[in-house]
Amino acid sequence: MTDEAERELSNTLCVLQMQKFYIETVGCQMNVLDSELVHSGLVQSGLVPTTDRYNADVILFNTCSVRQHAEDKIYSALGRLKHWTMLKPYGVLGVIGCMAQKDQKTIFQRAPHVDLVLGPGQLELLPETVHQLLDEKLQRNYAGQQESGKKLLVSLKRQEHRHTEVAESFRLFDPVRNPEARLNRFQAMVRIMFGCDKFCTYCIVPSVRGPEQSRPPQEILEEIRALVGQGVVEITLIGQTVNSYRYSTGGKTTRLADLLYQASDIDGLRRLCFVTNYPRGMDNDLLQAVRDLPKVAKHLHIPAQSGSDTVLQRMKRNYTATDYRELVDRIYSTIPNVSITCDLIVGFCGETDEEFQQTVELVQYCRFKNSFIFKYSERPGTKSVKLYPDDVPESVKKIRNNVLLEIQDKIALEQNKRFIGTTVEILVEGITKQFNKQFETGNVQLSGRTSCDRIVVFDMPDNRSIGQFLKLNIYDAAPFTLFARLPEYSK
Ligand code: SAH
Ligand code: SF4
Ligand code: F3S
Repeated sequence: MTDEAERELSNTLCVLQMQKFYIETVGCQMNVLDSELVHSGLVQSGLVPTTDRYNADVILFNTCSVRQHAEDKIYSALGRLKHWTMLKPYGVLGVIGCMAQKDQKTIFQRAPHVDLVLGPGQLELLPETVHQLLDEKLQRNYAGQQESGKKLLVSLKRQEHRHTEVAESFRLFDPVRNPEARLNRFQAMVRIMFGCDKFCTYCIVPSVRGPEQSRPPQEILEEIRALVGQGVVEITLIGQTVNSYRYSTGGKTTRLADLLYQASDIDGLRRLCFVTNYPRGMDNDLLQAVRDLPKVAKHLHIPAQSGSDTVLQRMKRNYTATDYRELVDRIYSTIPNVSITCDLIVGFCGETDEEFQQTVELVQYCRFKNSFIFKYSERPGTKSVKLYPDDVPESVKKIRNNVLLEIQDKIALEQNKRFIGTTVEILVEGITKQFNKQFETGNVQLSGRTSCDRIVVFDMPDNRSIGQFLKLNIYDAAPFTLFARLPEYSK
């Protein structure tokens, strides 16, 4: 079939069939939640989801700008879709999320076949805009016109406007939740705040996600109740610095600890998690809430970024390594069986061997369950670009990354080995990726997580326990995994 005939046919089919969308997501929990909301919004507007990118009529990339690598991957994926736009001239290709807010028009320049660029503060406008584009493109295509209009919808830039104006231009979008849009029916995220005001010198998030804004507690609690009504048993409250959550109205201020108490009262909710914490402002009332509320997961993710005071200063983190160690001491002495996880950046501007060694010592001291280690990636538009040269060679960043990973893995294994011979309770999440087929024995390998966020794998004759809480006996351990059996098989 000629290209033209193929185009004609797909145009006709497109009007006859339900139009399909595909969303590819990278980045943090914010993006995972946003993609779920976008999915719900598009379904509500009459589109049908597909997992086959090339079969879609609408392809959306929900993007992340936190490191260069994440952006490069999106630009090359967009490049590869040039062919798709030729085969589907009525199709809509969109870039949403943090890179849309950061790069704006540049995306159209670098990938001229992109139709839509829409920032994280404009998600509520997405379904309507996608339909406008689909209609426009179809009409133009029938009229034999090649070029179609492009849409750019983003928030105000932080540096160029007043704080309140910028905050208003980042509109929250948390519509009715649709269980079909989630990875599963028993776990869900709930946004408690938007944006960030911390301005760590290396970080792009405050400029792409806008000013920090906390959602009203009654909205959050209603959303949790509705989700629990849909069968959700585990809720994760999300925000860039969740422990800064603060909402004041009528002389009353609600903070994260208050939210944990209020949410814990919801019948049917079994587990409550929250990410990400900022090391400052981890007050005792919050730690005590984690200790005292049985539903609250005994796991805290608190990025340290570095163990060197001078690096922390250059990063503008507003705490010292000693402050962080004292926080870790306070957590371990307050909450029994708690686990702490961390984010660390290696090779930040000017990082010397001694400064890196201090990060190694911090990791050894804090005994994290695991750490997410990143090589510093210079982000245009951040303070560090203006203040310091990105002078640690890539090869040194790589070595430091590997050194730290090795130390962290050893600690993780030592910690996990302490679980051998114990019984843990897990929420069964699904079939493990490596073993998504039935074993020859007829068993399937399932995995779940403990309250302290440890991954546990075990075999079962069937997958009926997915979404349920189970007690299991641990018989072996690896750095990231505990291996378990049902108590009746353990004798
Ligand atoms: N709000 C969270 C995390 C935000 S981004 C916090 O305050 O900790 C997630 C992680 O990406 C950060 O914790 C940091 O470790 C890493 N990160 C952010 N900017 C980076 C950069 N420019 N280069 C490398 N890693 C970065
Ligand atoms: Fe980025 Fe710092 Fe805000 Fe975290 S606290 S999102 S690292 S600016
Ligand atoms: Fe990336 Fe945006 Fe999250 S930059 S880390 S997806 S807030």
